[in-house]
Amino acid sequence: EKGGFEHFMLKEIFEQPRSISDCMRGRLDAQKGRLVLGGLREYLAKLTNADRILIVACGTSWHAGLVAEYFFEEFCRIPVEVEYASEFRYRNPVIREGDVVIAISQSGETADTLAAIELAKSKGAIIFGVCNVVGSSIARATHAGAYTHAGPEIGVASTKAFTAQLTVLNMIALIVAQKKGTITEQKLHELLVEMETIPAKVERALKLNDQIESIAAEFKDARNFIYLGRGYNFPVALEGALKLKEISYIHAEGYPAAEMKHGPIALIDEEMPVVFIATNDSSYEKVVSNIQEVRARKGRVIAIVTEGDKLIPKMAEFVIEVPSVHEALMPMVSVVPLQLLSYHIAVMRGCNVDQPRNLAKSVTVE
Ligand code: M6R
Repeated sequence: EKGGFEHFMLKEIFEQPRSISDCMRGRLDAQKGRLVLGGLREYLAKLTNADRILIVACGTSWHAGLVAEYFFEEFCRIPVEVEYASEFRYRNPVIREGDVVIAISQSGETADTLAAIELAKSKGAIIFGVCNVVGSSIARATHAGAYTHAGPEIGVASTKAFTAQLTVLNMIALIVAQKKGTITEQKLHELLVEMETIPAKVERALKLNDQIESIAAEFKDARNFIYLGRGYNFPVALEGALKLKEISYIHAEGYPAAEMKHGPIALIDEEMPVVFIATNDSSYEKVVSNIQEVRARKGRVIAIVTEGDKLIPKMAEFVIEVPSVHEALMPMVSVVPLQLLSYHIAVMRGCNVDQPRNLAKSVTVE
């Protein structure tokens, strides 16, 4: 049932080229100019005319929401707020007519997310769901939505569900952007073509597995880790840190790279591994200076860079090269080495990666 893999988590990481294309199948075809999500149609106008989008989720799904915030704001020009479902539901949030809620959940059973939906619904908001499990409670509680079609995710650490969530959220945003006219036809076409390249690029990123395993061996005894990224890669830093802590029990923090100097920089010494997601995007130069700041304090830098990067290999102790892709789509690729890194470290530490201590696959209690 693990398809020859030692753990479900590894199987699911390796399934991503397939799960991402399954997610796009019948929905996106760049050449035909096709981009449709059947489940959206009835309420699409609500989303297109939304004054604000509120995204509610927990954990990894919340990280997918953060990436979507950048994507929706860039291409749809709609303000987005991303909320932890558990905070949103208990703070008497302002929900106005014209707000649209997007709830993201792999299991579709997360108690806090479900309660946040019920609250927003009671105030008259329209709710879209992005769920993996068909017929789940959240899928049923929402007005409309789109499934991620990633297939069953067994490992407690969410991997293929995350990349599928991003795929769906990007498609939703591009449909809205097209309808609103906030994206040119040319740009839309360019992004659709790029979306179609993602499965092959993830496949290439998976070829880094052996290299990442040897990096894992170097760091398996670390007590702490810092993950840094900017822009679209900031939520990827959070996700990389979450993956590591939940399955390897190593304390890890994800931060926006520029926030480092407001506190976490004090943690850096010659023993601190710092993972930079430093792909070639609009914040590249800024991230390069953040790497220098860490190097100056003797931190051990592991950098995820774009293939062919000439500069960062001179500064980082370890460099992991991922294929180039439009920056808005990079999280789907740049997260893959981080999933593998946490997996190998956890295995080397003898941890139960598929069922880490204290964690359940769906958190059905608040
Ligand atoms: O099923 P959901 O997407 O609603 O679950 C949300 C979180 O519980 C989940 O993402 C959790 O953080 C994972 N264990 C992360 O890998």
